[in-house]
Amino acid sequence: MVSLSAAFLVLSLNCCLVMFCCEARYHHHSHHHHKKQHNKQHYPPHSGISAPPSLAPEGSIPVPPLVSLPPNAPPEAYAPSPDDGEYNNTNGVFDVRQFGAVGDGITDDTQAFKEAWDSACQAESGKIIVPNGYSFMIQSGSFTGPCEPGLVFQVDGTIMPPDGPESWPKNNSRHQWLVFYRVNDMSLEGGGVIDGRGEQWWNLPCKPHRGPNGTTLPGPCDSPVAIRFFMSTNLTVQGLRIKDSPQFHFRFDNCKKVHIESLHITAPPLSPNTDGIHIENTDSVEIYNSVISNGDDCISIGSGSYDVNIRNVTCGPGHGISIGSLGMRNSRACVSNITVRDSTIKFTDNGVRIKTWQGGSGAVTDVTFDNIRMDTVRNPIIIDQFYCDGRRCTNHTSAVFVSNIQYTGIKGTYDIRSPPMHFGCSDSIPCTNITISDIELLPARGDLVLDPFCWNVYGELETLTIPPVSCLMEGIPRSLLDINLGYC
Ligand SMILES: *[C@@H]1O[C@H](CO)[C@@H](O)[C@H](O)[C@H]1NC(C)=O
Ligand SMILES: *[C@@H]1O[C@H](CO)[C@@H](O)[C@H](O)[C@H]1NC(C)=O
Ligand SMILES: *[C@@H]1O[C@H](CO)[C@@H](O)[C@H](O)[C@H]1NC(C)=O
Ligand SMILES: *[C@@H]1O[C@H](CO)[C@@H](O)[C@H](O)[C@H]1NC(C)=O
Ligand SMILES: *[C@@H]1O[C@H](CO)[C@@H](O)[C@H](O)[C@H]1NC(C)=O
Ligand SMILES: *[C@@H]1O[C@H](CO)[C@@H](O)[C@H](O)[C@H]1NC(C)=O
Ligand SMILES: *[C@@H]1O[C@H](CO)[C@@H](O)[C@H](O)[C@H]1NC(C)=O
Ligand SMILES: *[C@@H]1O[C@H](CO)[C@@H](O)[C@H](O)[C@H]1NC(C)=O
Repeated sequence: MVSLSAAFLVLSLNCCLVMFCCEARYHHHSHHHHKKQHNKQHYPPHSGISAPPSLAPEGSIPVPPLVSLPPNAPPEAYAPSPDDGEYNNTNGVFDVRQFGAVGDGITDDTQAFKEAWDSACQAESGKIIVPNGYSFMIQSGSFTGPCEPGLVFQVDGTIMPPDGPESWPKNNSRHQWLVFYRVNDMSLEGGGVIDGRGEQWWNLPCKPHRGPNGTTLPGPCDSPVAIRFFMSTNLTVQGLRIKDSPQFHFRFDNCKKVHIESLHITAPPLSPNTDGIHIENTDSVEIYNSVISNGDDCISIGSGSYDVNIRNVTCGPGHGISIGSLGMRNSRACVSNITVRDSTIKFTDNGVRIKTWQGGSGAVTDVTFDNIRMDTVRNPIIIDQFYCDGRRCTNHTSAVFVSNIQYTGIKGTYDIRSPPMHFGCSDSIPCTNITISDIELLPARGDLVLDPFCWNVYGELETLTIPPVSCLMEGIPRSLLDINLGYC
């Protein structure tokens, strides 16, 4: 992620807290009153809504191919029969159309989704169905818990926000579109599509090079994260395709126990700030078997994240997998126990990156990058403790300490515009215990072999590498012996 986003995150956190407080209180109230109701009693006053719409939306709104459903599965299959008198199904299945959602891609279906959420949230193992063959337009808002355990939000059709900043209601948050807040034991899944319709946001004149003649104009530039999970635990997100977010596609903050599986995230290579999955203050995360191509980091790991396991992810184009940036504006950051393995990174600016700002504090420790295939990557392996986004940055004596980083089995090709390995570590707080083995990185074109770049990096070469690394220093630097690094 580029640094601007960090500022937005801070802002957005404040804003959401205000919004959430109201929602949470409201919900709390209704939760207690309706908890054990079993929803048959609400027969819709205008009951046309559960009949299948006469207009199948496929004609006007292209529905991208679905992953896990036969392309022509009849949408009616997911709705209870109109004759059985149980629109609000006692078995805990809540089709958004039962609540009035139209799904023609134009009608505002926000209210129906909120009502479906409220009902499913109160049902044990409730399931919200967003049926295949429909496109639902919903405004930004939050789905708030706590809910009964085992809630499933199943998206088989398409969900999208209003199209661009002009059609975004003035009083709606521009920091995020859909928020799941205080939700435990929930799964967001299905073979459908979440379409962020980001294009007009990326082209705002405040975005890099999007102003007249390739300039960047000042001015408010907030663009919504597509899906945010906030203060939630035991989450599963799987199977979905999500594309073209105005900003990050997923953001998890202050969450715990997150399992992500078989996601397909896409946005164009030049779409600004469209990180695939961003996590922050979140621990016990698994990201498996997913494919991400976008205009920024594939996965970005922010401060306060630990016990993160990433396996079989394909990234690129984009900016690769990134820990950081950390320590912005002299902040303290702690990240530990991160593993990335059995993955492929292709046509990206970076492969596996750790980036920290001068002046920060805290530490990044116990990180393993293992069995990663690189294809035409500009900086396949990079630690950058001088991260700066083009503003004026000065060097400081404090830095986020980087230690116990292991690179093994990293093979493939690099773009010769930069060296295949770059370790740029702070003068006062060098990087230590960097272990390297089984590296084989060749130029993607030509035979110009570039030497690794090292600056204040200590560690060990366990096997010979291609290209050879001769610049790692041994042991522990004296400067660190006097400093208390145990702040994480
Ligand atoms: C289902 O229940 C919700 C709230 O419990 C109610 O608002 C809605 O009208 C009901 N819909 C149907 C089709 O019964
Ligand atoms: C986490 O969620 C899953 C699926 O919803 C559930 O089976 C499991 O019991 C939950 N685990 C915990 C620790 O709550
Ligand atoms: C935004 O304004 C509209 C119309 O003025 C109102 O119906 C809606 O509830 C408002 N939404 C929020 C989130 O305040
Ligand atoms: C854009 O560049 C052209 C040619 O250099 C110039 O004539 C024009 O005034 C510029 N427009 C703006 C808004 O700067
Ligand atoms: C890796 O993920 C891809 C989908 O991205 C999947 O098709 C493949 O089966 C996965 N491989 C393994 C070994 O799980
Ligand atoms: C590191 O994280 C993994 C999960 O990715 C967890 O199983 C393991 O126990 C953690 N190790 C330590 C030392 O906490
Ligand atoms: C910061 O320190 C590094 C390493 O000593 C040096 O290369 C760089 O030029 C310095 N940057 C500034 C802005 O002084
Ligand atoms: C060096 O880092 C590795 C993990 O990469 C860890 O297992 C080992 O204990 C560390 N060594 C020291 C001396 O801290």
